[in-house]
Amino acid sequence: MWKILLLGKIGQLGFELQRTLAPLGEVTALDYPDIDFTKPETLTPQVAATKPNVIINAVAYTDVDKAETEIDIANAINGEACGVLAKAAKQLNAPLIHFSTDFVFDGRNGGSYCENDAVNPLNVYGKSKRMGEEAILAFGKNYLILRTSWLYSMRRETYVLKVLRWARTQPKMRVVTDQTGSPTSARILAEITAQALAVVKNRGSEWLEERRGVYHLAGDGTASRFEFAQTILSLDPRREEQIVTEILPAISDDFPTPARRPGNTSLNCDKFERAFSLRLPPWQEALRLELTA
Ligand SMILES: NC(=O)c1ccc[n+]([C@@H]2O[C@H](COP(=O)([O-])OP(=O)(O)OC[C@H]3O[C@@H](n4cnc5c(N)ncnc54)[C@H](OP(=O)(O)O)[C@@H]3O)[C@@H](O)[C@H]2O)c1
Repeated sequence: MWKILLLGKIGQLGFELQRTLAPLGEVTALDYPDIDFTKPETLTPQVAATKPNVIINAVAYTDVDKAETEIDIANAINGEACGVLAKAAKQLNAPLIHFSTDFVFDGRNGGSYCENDAVNPLNVYGKSKRMGEEAILAFGKNYLILRTSWLYSMRRETYVLKVLRWARTQPKMRVVTDQTGSPTSARILAEITAQALAVVKNRGSEWLEERRGVYHLAGDGTASRFEFAQTILSLDPRREEQIVTEILPAISDDFPTPARRPGNTSLNCDKFERAFSLRLPPWQEALRLELTA
């Protein structure tokens, strides 16, 4: 029986992973305050106590703007704790599956980003996530670092639910056209992650070790925030409740935020498909499934 340790069970991705990992083995799922990533040194004995065959880390400090003033906390959770986990996983000979972000890039690329494109995070969150990647690359033995982008679920107040709310409360919406990404359903990302782990379970951890590294795993295709909002509204199953009549294009400078956002961070996921024969569906199709579920 495979023993799976899932860290971050309450987050949007972690919640979905609890369900999708269950068929693969016995899942021990933890979250704050049972585990506290701001105290990285406490993680080693806690991880060892569960004797996992595989460790999945869905914990993260994800408040991009707040991170600008909580630098130490963001670095501890997204950076240092990942190094501790990588070392613990190595001692236990257990693969570590970790999630990272498109915000490690500066967004100035002309097309979609590949794994070996140069990183250059623009904000504290992106820097702290890159710190976590570097720690796993330095200390890990067997790992997957899965970079995803524009994650949403219907459980948390993410972009999709915000757009639906705005459309019901205001006649005009202004949405930026100069931020481009790969919208990703947390539910489908959790499903693909579990399917990839089923491949690993069948082929063995040596097979994974040969393929260890960074992979991009996000909704297929590219959208600007503007196109994403338009599509959310057109797929809204309760369109009759919308009072919005106009969506107006805007630019990021119209909405100053504490953290700078990168421009284009859409992700090319071909490497993951070559390794695991799996690919997320086009983001529009995933969104349709989420909104009509
Ligand atoms: N959200 C996005 O748009 C996005 C985009 C690209 C990549 N990603 C990456 O995808 C992964 C999953 O993101 P997500 O959106 O599912 O994140 P999320 O919803 O914010 O969940 C993060 C989880 O980490 C937990 N956590 C926070 N601080 C902790 C601490 N000190 N100790 C232990 N646990 C703590 C949270 O618990 P509480 O709820 O109790 O705080 C929550 O369960 C992350 O690696 C993230 O960087 C996200």
